[in-house]
Amino acid sequence: MTYAAITGWGKCMPPATLTNEDLSKFLDTNDEWIVSRTGMKERRVSHVSATEMAVIAAKRALACAGIEGGQVDLIIYGSCSNDEQVPNCASGVQVAIGATKAASMDLNTACTSFLYSLTAATAMIRTGVAKTAIVIGVELISPFMDWDNRNVAVLFGDGCAAVVLQATDKQEGILGEELGCLADARQTLRVRGMGTAYTNRGVTSGDTEWDFDGQEIFKRAVQGMVQASQAVMKKCGVTPDDIDLVVPHQANLRIIDAVVSRSGIPMEKVMLTVQRYGNMSAATVPVALAESLEEGRMKPGALVLMPAFGAGLTVCAHLVRWGDRVTPLALSDAELPPVKKSALDMVQDIRARKHRDTSKAGLHGLTFIEQM
Ligand code: UT7
Repeated sequence: MTYAAITGWGKCMPPATLTNEDLSKFLDTNDEWIVSRTGMKERRVSHVSATEMAVIAAKRALACAGIEGGQVDLIIYGSCSNDEQVPNCASGVQVAIGATKAASMDLNTACTSFLYSLTAATAMIRTGVAKTAIVIGVELISPFMDWDNRNVAVLFGDGCAAVVLQATDKQEGILGEELGCLADARQTLRVRGMGTAYTNRGVTSGDTEWDFDGQEIFKRAVQGMVQASQAVMKKCGVTPDDIDLVVPHQANLRIIDAVVSRSGIPMEKVMLTVQRYGNMSAATVPVALAESLEEGRMKPGALVLMPAFGAGLTVCAHLVRWGDRVTPLALSDAELPPVKKSALDMVQDIRARKHRDTSKAGLHGLTFIEQM
């Protein structure tokens, strides 16, 4: 049987940091509320496009695996905040890393996009369609954020990470996964202002309002991730005691706490990044994975559980067997250009660009979409 081992990893975090105190300068919020309700202290705001972050992360992952772009035959770009729709973003990464013989595609399941992409790439490697793949989780949420809505503006951040998958006979990479979608709850999270439904009605793309039922999402996310985690452990014949490391989606520290405690796994086994990056949607799990290696928390042969959820509401849990190598074969010298503005200044620029009054009418009354 062919498996798809994770042999390279690399992250690209934009340096500009937006603190809770920064947020309290233009929103009715405070550090105490944000930390106690979410565990978040700061998040990043990118000064470059999502594709630029993805290129740096991919170059770092390639160096880590000790391979060249020319050896890659599949690129999957997991994201819901694409720089553009046509051409796809994966092809932009392909050009920049010289992966001339690769197939390239974008995949959007919101926050679970990286893990769904990991499943797709693994399946293609198992069936012989590809031998070497790059899977990217990237998100540039800041331009699409409704920065005047404290219910959502404090929760999200930008970021990116990528992994390299390579075909192997060893039992490594994904051992099993559970994928699902609680579509009856899809109305709980909608970003109005992204997509043709809105541009057709004269809305400037990115001039958003978020429908966000935090408490319902919280409840469904916990139930969904617990069920998916239990199902994948049962399918693979492992118990919570067998899990060495949990690398979960990081939307809220309280959600993570509830998921692992109901799954019978102690918090000490969880890789946490929520305090420094917030929820980076598709980038969250791969960034946490890369940092678990940087911080020496990933041990050779570790059994890793990765539960996640996102808008849709998509849910999943993956069980991954890590290989022997927990250090990079080489380091890439790829770097982002320096940032000239503070995160707060960049957010204030985005706020200033939004013309809410002129476009608000087009954001509502989408009967067909709203009935689904
Ligand atoms: O990847 C999918 C992303 N979605 C999620 O992760 C959402 C999951 N949900 C959550 O994480 C939590 O529900 C939230 C963090 C969003 C909210 O926490 P909560 O404990 O459910 O708070 P709440 O919505 O019940 O709000 C409590 C109070 C409200 O005031 P009142 O009505 O009690 O007077 C809110 O208006 O807190 C208020 N509030 C805030 N106060 C200060 C809401 N947001 C803020 C804020 N700062 N940023």
